[in-house]
Amino acid sequence: MGFDSSDDAAVYRIEGDLCLIHTVDFFPPIVDDPYEFGLIAATNSLSDIYAMGGRPISALNLLCIPGDFDHEKITRRILEGGSDKAAEAGINISGGHSIEDDEPKYGLSVVGIARESEILSNGGARVGDLLILTKALGSGILTTADKAGLLSPADHTTLVATLSALNRWPYEQIKDLDVSACTDVTGFGLIGHAAEMAETAGLTFYIHAEKLPLLPQSIELARDGIIPAGAYKNRDFMCGRYLGSESLPLELEDICFDPQTSGGLLYTMSPDSAEEYLKRCKIAGLDVRVIGEVKAQENVSVRLL
Ligand code: CO
Ligand code: CO
Repeated sequence: MGFDSSDDAAVYRIEGDLCLIHTVDFFPPIVDDPYEFGLIAATNSLSDIYAMGGRPISALNLLCIPGDFDHEKITRRILEGGSDKAAEAGINISGGHSIEDDEPKYGLSVVGIARESEILSNGGARVGDLLILTKALGSGILTTADKAGLLSPADHTTLVATLSALNRWPYEQIKDLDVSACTDVTGFGLIGHAAEMAETAGLTFYIHAEKLPLLPQSIELARDGIIPAGAYKNRDFMCGRYLGSESLPLELEDICFDPQTSGGLLYTMSPDSAEEYLKRCKIAGLDVRVIGEVKAQENVSVRLL
């Protein structure tokens, strides 16, 4: 798979229908605690493998760290977070590379595998499919608030739990279902990634605002203007490709443009499969939601209703 469809990861067929999936991602700390940072960065790096419909088989660390850091208290804890999350994904981190840098950064390069028939591009949506989202939105807003010391300890815990929730678990539930496309919701926000899926398929996505799963306090914080700069860029970028609704509160729209770190999977699947998927996820204790549906192409890619 090439660069033409801006998919989540690179896919290379090695033999028969067996494919390798390659992805790499790393970023500066979005939380203060080094162990939590390690968990989140690894969760985020692994996500693109699941978004392609594959499972990870190995990973390498990428680490930038200031020379004067307390390696026992910080470096080791970041790597422990990454290693614990890799273990949850069923793999080992088999090596890596570190360099000295003024600002710390951490992430993984990950290799996954899948049969060609299991690969999910972001462009396969069909008219009549339902849209399913597997994680609550608002992590950019809450992370911004957290950095400013505006989050309660309980909301901080919810934020970290969401950011470090591995997309393996919602991915595990799709087996044998009629899934047509997938991506993970990250920097371009829900609407940006939904638009990418809709445009690749030449269709329009309807998203129902009242069905969106939201992190606690995200509405209140957005109303107070605690919105990362990226959300405004994402909104500008969608100019002419997106239609909102006068009746919706502005802060709900802001959340749909909020850049997500380590966001959930966005699936399109047939209504029958969606019903079965929701059942399976409920049994597995996962909160996933139907948030909209796929329509024939209109003059915008995404409508928020
Ligand atoms: Co992705
Ligand atoms: Co990525």
